[in-house]
Amino acid sequence: MTTFGTPLSPHATRVMLLGSGELGKEVLIALQRLGVETIAVDRYDNAPGHQVAHRAHTIAMSDPAALKALIEREKPDWVVPEIEAIATPALAELEAAGAVRVVPTARAARLTMDRESIRRLAAETLGLATSPYKFCDSFEELQAAIDGGIGYPCVVKPVMSSSGKGQSKIDGPADVRKAWDVAMAGGRVSHGRVIVEGFIDFDYEITLLTVRARAADGSVQTHFCDAIGHVQVSGDYVESWQPHPMHPAALEKARAIAKAVTDDLGRGLDGQPAGLGLFGVELFVKGEQVWFSEVSPRPHDTGMVTMATQWQNEFELHARAILGLPVDTSLKTPGASAVVYGGVDAQGIVFDGVDEALRVPGTEIRLFGKPESFVKRRMGVLLARDADVEQARVNAKRAAALVRPRTA
Ligand SMILES: Nc1ncnc2c1ncn2[C@@H]1O[C@H](COP(=O)(O)OP(=O)(O)O)[C@@H](O)[C@H]1O
Ligand SMILES: [Mg+2]
Repeated sequence: MTTFGTPLSPHATRVMLLGSGELGKEVLIALQRLGVETIAVDRYDNAPGHQVAHRAHTIAMSDPAALKALIEREKPDWVVPEIEAIATPALAELEAAGAVRVVPTARAARLTMDRESIRRLAAETLGLATSPYKFCDSFEELQAAIDGGIGYPCVVKPVMSSSGKGQSKIDGPADVRKAWDVAMAGGRVSHGRVIVEGFIDFDYEITLLTVRARAADGSVQTHFCDAIGHVQVSGDYVESWQPHPMHPAALEKARAIAKAVTDDLGRGLDGQPAGLGLFGVELFVKGEQVWFSEVSPRPHDTGMVTMATQWQNEFELHARAILGLPVDTSLKTPGASAVVYGGVDAQGIVFDGVDEALRVPGTEIRLFGKPESFVKRRMGVLLARDADVEQARVNAKRAAALVRPRTA
């Protein structure tokens, strides 16, 4: 049985979000609707989630002392990581002491914060199909890995990076030096370790949102959303849609991979409770072949489309699963999402054309409220629903193009 308290009272059910961007903001809104007391944390003031939570804090979440001090002061029941760059050993310590529950688990947060541990888990421990890969600590090692079997084309990424930062595709020997330099400039930490992966010539890629939620008998059950198709430009998501049609054999493989990865990441170690919540499992598909790419133990950017397409969107599913509530992953309508980039480097920008955008049939908009815009920063998203998913994609992109961010 789950019992809920009253926010801002001694018996409140309290949840702290570590990272309060556009995804965290929606998780916070979902929690607010359930009467949860919410605490939003980010590394800069007035982050999107700061604007909708009961309390907002600005700290360096990669600083273990600062993170521990804040958690000990706020005493949340759950800590929900929204980003990867967090002092996960501090979370593990607090979790082991029974001071807090980390979503899904501190171990999952640690394993997914760099590309090496999650890739080794998926390919070497679980034996899942992935692109061929090597880890390299210098330009010479990178060249040797490519020459020694990875070959061309291939993709280089810093082990600590997200949203395509520091990532590039190498088509031939002339690109290797540049890719190394881009990775060194774009990684989250300066010690330059990279992964080089053989390029998978997939037909399409999907995110399979997978939810571990508690059933009435107390056991953990795995639920799958319909596949989300998406397009990435320079490693960053620009549009997504749901459902993406799949060959039944490919769908079955995709679900088996997602189940294997989330079962492992959700495992409770040494008497710790099992991990609950939603995961974004990224997969490449060619015909009936499926490769595991990576996984987020939290809502996924391409899953923003579910705000238009599902009865319970990915943020509500995450909130419900964490709190031990039942979930419903069924589709409401086909639909699509298209990203609005800042287009300018400026503070406090304005958006022209929102009215014109929303005249495109079946559309909705989310403006994230980020205080500072960058040319390539995601500032909003257009959502479109239509009985025909291809039409929804057209409408989402048309509406997104009508929104024109500019300096005030
Ligand atoms: N080995 C690969 N083969 C083909 N495309 C790839 C490969 N690795 C990455 N990509 C493309 O780049 C995108 C971003 O890569 P990903 O590993 O998901 O990085 P991030 O953590 O930044 O999202 C993928 O969604 C895919 O489109
Ligand atoms: Mg990705």
